[in-house]
Amino acid sequence: MRITRAGWAIMTVLSTLIALLSARYVGLDPATFFTEQRATYLAHELPLAVHISGASIALAAGPWQFSERLRRRWPQWHRRIGVVYLLGCLVGGVGALLLAPVAYGGVVARIGFACLGVAWLVTGGTGLRMILRRRVEDHRRWMIRSFALTFAAVTLRLMLVVAKGAQLDFRTSYTVIAWLCWVPNLLLAYWFTRPRPEPR
Ligand code: HEM
Repeated sequence: MRITRAGWAIMTVLSTLIALLSARYVGLDPATFFTEQRATYLAHELPLAVHISGASIALAAGPWQFSERLRRRWPQWHRRIGVVYLLGCLVGGVGALLLAPVAYGGVVARIGFACLGVAWLVTGGTGLRMILRRRVEDHRRWMIRSFALTFAAVTLRLMLVVAKGAQLDFRTSYTVIAWLCWVPNLLLAYWFTRPRPEPR
């Protein structure tokens, strides 16, 4: 998959913006928590801080890995940022799995977030395994899948804005979006990275 310059710029701006907005949570100021979950977050400050620290780093670092120029000119930076991204996914993913059982929206939303958390850890871990075995093409595929899931943080918030604009019931739309924020991203990533026949 080759990403256009405009597509990359939009992805980078949105990811950086959500990473910065999310980083406010790390201060654990209850005024920044969303009202419906304020009491829950106060009771789960550690997993919340762990999740958001790791996830914000992964979201901010991820887009740079898709810059071909950076990869070609400074391959050592691709490796360094890659390590930071994967550590972010690991820490953010463990925090996400600790938060999933207490997420807003009930059992359907909780299962949605838990599946996303598992898929996030598996795709990142497989991407790492592939590059350690020098399987560059497979590494590329798995890292695209991994970032498509990291980007769920952006799609979730965009969808919540749309649902609010459409005046949909918050609890119902939150439950649906807990799945809708990542399943289409993952399917798209699989489609983009599908094996293609060699050109003759
Ligand atoms: C991709 C895997 C991810 C999973 C499985 C996941 C899971 C969760 C869960 C279960 C919660 C609690 C939700 C609730 O209380 O209803 C949460 C909250 C949160 N997550 Fe994630 N998350 C992921 C990625 C990210 C990323 C990449 C960011 C961005 C930096 C992020 C930022 C936040 C923030 C700021 C909250 C607090 C609630 C809010 O304002 O939305 N998450 N996450």
